[in-house]
Amino acid sequence: MLFDTVIRGARVVSSSETSLCEVGISEGRIAALGTDLEGVEIIDAEGLIAMPGGIDSHVHISQPSGPGIEMADDFASATRAAACGGNTTIMPFCLPEDGQTLREAVASYLAKADGQCLTDVSFHLIVNSVDPVTLGQDLPALIAQGMTSLKVFMTYQGMRLTDAEILQVMDVARQQGALTMVHAENEDAIEFLRDKAERNGHIQPVHHARSRPVPVEREATHRATTLAEVAGVPVMIVHVSNGAALEEIQRARARGVRVFAETCPQYITLTADDLDRAGFEGAKWVCSPPPRDTDEQAAIWAGLEQGAFDVFSSDHCPFRFEDTAGKDAPGARASFRNIPNGIPGVETRLPILFSEGIGKGRMSLETFAALTATNHARIYGLDDKGAIAVGKDADIVLWDPAMTRTITQDELHHGSDYTPWEGFEVTGWPVRTILRGKTVMLDGHPAGDPRGMHVARSKPEVTA
Ligand code: URP
Ligand code: ZN
Ligand code: ZN
Ligand code: ZN
Repeated sequence: MLFDTVIRGARVVSSSETSLCEVGISEGRIAALGTDLEGVEIIDAEGLIAMPGGIDSHVHISQPSGPGIEMADDFASATRAAACGGNTTIMPFCLPEDGQTLREAVASYLAKADGQCLTDVSFHLIVNSVDPVTLGQDLPALIAQGMTSLKVFMTYQGMRLTDAEILQVMDVARQQGALTMVHAENEDAIEFLRDKAERNGHIQPVHHARSRPVPVEREATHRATTLAEVAGVPVMIVHVSNGAALEEIQRARARGVRVFAETCPQYITLTADDLDRAGFEGAKWVCSPPPRDTDEQAAIWAGLEQGAFDVFSSDHCPFRFEDTAGKDAPGARASFRNIPNGIPGVETRLPILFSEGIGKGRMSLETFAALTATNHARIYGLDDKGAIAVGKDADIVLWDPAMTRTITQDELHHGSDYTPWEGFEVTGWPVRTILRGKTVMLDGHPAGDPRGMHVARSKPEVTA
């Protein structure tokens, strides 16, 4: 048999094993794993590692972010950065603007993404209103169309839901077979600390971190898992930043609640001290939950090593420092409250984990594949993705495990004007990204036409 493409010479990684074999690709799918395969195109991958293409199940693109504030990425730039960082699928959120229904929001995001994407995309829904149309009509219709996950927020004024509202949403998720993702931080406690900080003249970026301390996340994590227990649904706790929140997750699991957990690069590499950098530079590290300290980093590492985390995502949420917190941004300079929350990271997520995890001997290649691709596909119902296995989409990333790079804004492809990892040294870098059999990144640069599609998902297994 003559395959369209054969990858030769790579060590091929799945979430369960690694073997030296060839990968035969036909019509965008993995058609064979073996030896002496013949192909029209041969990719010589001697010395490289073939991993399932990264799936980043937590990214924000083109979301409404407050008056006069625009996100730094559209779908073209975000997926360009994603592909250059070794990803083949990203999962952004649909957030309704004021006055828009969830269904209208989805239509507008699909239109924005159409024809622009270098990777595949698959949307989550954000539920910020529990009106009868959202709960009774839009959610059931959209879940049936394959948007089988939704996020609710316990924080952010204007977006947060009350516990009663979260239970209503979880009940719809239970009936329709969707997975609920929760942003767990206690907004009332944050508001108390934020007001107090401002009254005392503490307006600099570091007070963002100080007004969202660990207990604020720990308590909300306990509440989120309890609400899931009451509603009888599985739950994904996103962007877990510390050991105490992870303990709440473990306790809920011990009670029999199905709790998935996500963490992100910022919680293993950055600290609240980054928000305390001179001038107003600290604004570049403002995200929620905030980065903590080295003890909490160690707790997150322990969780990763013990298998307590299911997925490792970026929470890419890109802004331009100059626009949102630069010297001409008086709102942000008046108080940390006005700095939009979020940092860019879709391009750097995989190299950071590869280097800090595999490179430093804390993680096997197989665990890396599980945390960055396979588990995302399984948990969120991306049935054709997440593994180098016969019949799956040929979504593959080739890594040079020996390549050393210093992360720097000049060489990244996102729309932000900075990276929080400026100067961070890594060993291991993705050198080729293949989406459904076609190369979309080569030697660090985007390649080919934007052929990414929106992917409908099955109902997550755990909700059945
Ligand atoms: O600060 C963050 N994480 N911004 C993105 C929105 C969210 O909460 O995930
Ligand atoms: Zn969040
Ligand atoms: Zn997020
Ligand atoms: Zn480039």
